[in-house]
Amino acid sequence: MNLTPKQIVAYLDDYIIGQNDAKKTIAIALRNRYRRLQLSDELQEEIMPKNILMIGSTGVGKTEIARRMAKMMSLPFVKVEASKYTEVGFVGRDVESMIRDLVHASFSLVTKEYEDNIKDNIDHEINKIIIEKLIPALPSGASEATKESFIKAYNKMEEKLLSGALDDKIIEIEFDKRTHVEVIDTGFPIDMSSMQEGINKLLGGMNKDKIKKEVSIKDARNLLRSSASDKLLDQDAIKVEALKRAKNGGIIFLDEIDKIASSKSSQNQDPSKEGVQRDLLPIVEGSDVQTKYGTISTDHILFIAAGAFHVSKPSDLLPELQGRFPLRVELESLNEEALYKILTNTKNSLLRQYQALLSVEDLKIEFSDEAIRAFASFSLRANEKTEDIGARRLHTVIEKVLEDISFDADEHAGETITITKELVEEKLGEIVENEDMSRYIL
Ligand SMILES: Nc1ncnc2c1ncn2[C@@H]1O[C@H](COP(=O)(O)OP(=O)(O)OP(=O)(O)O)[C@@H](O)[C@H]1O
Ligand SMILES: [Mg+2]
Repeated sequence: MNLTPKQIVAYLDDYIIGQNDAKKTIAIALRNRYRRLQLSDELQEEIMPKNILMIGSTGVGKTEIARRMAKMMSLPFVKVEASKYTEVGFVGRDVESMIRDLVHASFSLVTKEYEDNIKDNIDHEINKIIIEKLIPALPSGASEATKESFIKAYNKMEEKLLSGALDDKIIEIEFDKRTHVEVIDTGFPIDMSSMQEGINKLLGGMNKDKIKKEVSIKDARNLLRSSASDKLLDQDAIKVEALKRAKNGGIIFLDEIDKIASSKSSQNQDPSKEGVQRDLLPIVEGSDVQTKYGTISTDHILFIAAGAFHVSKPSDLLPELQGRFPLRVELESLNEEALYKILTNTKNSLLRQYQALLSVEDLKIEFSDEAIRAFASFSLRANEKTEDIGARRLHTVIEKVLEDISFDADEHAGETITITKELVEEKLGEIVENEDMSRYIL
């Protein structure tokens, strides 16, 4: 993670229009993670991350920012929904499970890195297992001459294997069932995660017997990969490194945090929501959490929370929790220009997605610039007349316009259809003007 804040913003710019404050704040926070890790241990201990609260109405890009961050991060990162947690003692996931998820993400990240480092060795190991299936084994006490011809046969087979000529050949392989059985983290309370580890071991023991399977050599490579990497990698070293990375570089994106705020004024005060907030306090502030990889302190984990706060306000969160998210950023609602840019200036924009989907039917779709402007202006109008659902409105609007074309696509194979402003107006004009109709249709 040595992207500069400018590079991070530039990356996000490819996918998210506007929201510059949010991008900037996040970029600085990420860079600070990196900066801190370059310091002496003593200083590192002192520097606490400043957690961020992103506020913005629905469909303006909060979750999208998190999704894009996840893709570019080489730091342990998880995105979780606050609404799926319940207070300790109730049925459901307790908040500490998000820390366990983070450590697990870190473990996968570190494993991947270690695997990349010894990729050649792993490939070699896999090839060895496959080749041994293909040529008769060398008998013990074989003469020099037999050994020599064995090596020759082996090398020849290896060459053939590497050329891909044998990819479709079927062989029988054995692999550990153990690597395929894992108790999912169901959110056991605190000390039970070690017990869970025990259950995993027990299950592993029960399934010690190997599975035999006939597969093509191509598939065999994938199936053998995890056992080959298990064999060659030092799992304990990975656990230690994974814990360290999660502790120092870990980031948790806590989406939908407004769903656990209960508004003081109204009748929908919910004590269990407050319970979840109270459970969150020690985690955000810093406490020790048991995971199956070991104990982790959450002091230096960065939390980024996001919420629309339509019904509740940030001030409806427990004051202590508010205080633990000192940096606030607001995301702007999307105006017509922003909606237009979302369609034209983002990688893999909706329009491109539709073009790609219909190209499968050999149908070429083009959008005139005026038509795209019309998409944006109708979306904005529908947002104003009914609910403001931000860029999500573009999905319903475009879907409505393309519905018939998409349905009849097979009849138009080989053609090019241009979506014009007139077509957009014809399909949407009446609906958008009529408030009741837009409520139901768009
Ligand atoms: N600023 C933006 N730039 C590009 N695309 C956007 C932007 N805002 C929203 N979108 C698109 O709109 C859709 C919804 O956005 P997103 O999931 O980020 O909403 P949200 O802010 O998390 O809303 P909610 O509060 O309802 O969860 C996504 O497909 C996303 O790509
Ligand atoms: Mg969201």
